[in-house]
Amino acid sequence: MTLLTILRYPDKRLNKVAKPVTQFDARLKKLVADMAETMYEAPGVGLAATQVDQHIQLVVIDTSDEHNQLQVFINLEIIWASEERKVYEEGCLSVPGIYDGVERAAQVRVRALDLQGQPFELLADELLAVCIQHEMDHLLGKVFVEYLSPLKRNRIKIRMQKEEREIERSNSSAPYGAPRRGRTGSQ
Ligand code: NI
Repeated sequence: MTLLTILRYPDKRLNKVAKPVTQFDARLKKLVADMAETMYEAPGVGLAATQVDQHIQLVVIDTSDEHNQLQVFINLEIIWASEERKVYEEGCLSVPGIYDGVERAAQVRVRALDLQGQPFELLADELLAVCIQHEMDHLLGKVFVEYLSPLKRNRIKIRMQKEEREIERSNSSAPYGAPRRGRTGSQ
């Protein structure tokens, strides 16, 4: 398995819209395995293919404490969302170190294909519901900070660009690069 590079906000490739998966082959299985490893290593609870510069409708999620309940969603769609909405403190592996409240549907019913191309439906609430909606936004080219005020978003953009320059500098001077940052709960 290979650790994949996670695109960082405000990389423009995070704004690409993902296309449906049509081939359920060994290449897709390898991508899912690599994305899962990348998500666990970060660590995070969800990762969309968009975040690793693969613009297909593929999401991996594991909200378990033990990191042993990987869920794969392909060509996913939300077929029902509750009227009840909740604000949840979100983080994102593409925006490391930033956490903020986003209001979303408290429950969603999702229809998707599994890694074998078989359809399934799932009723999700709590963190899983948040995660599914957050990852689906990635597939549409949207990062969660775009829900925040323009002022906050601009501050985050400046901070990310500054960090990016620091990482580039330390990568060119130190053989092992900058230490990775992350917190459980990032998606
Ligand atoms: Ni994210």
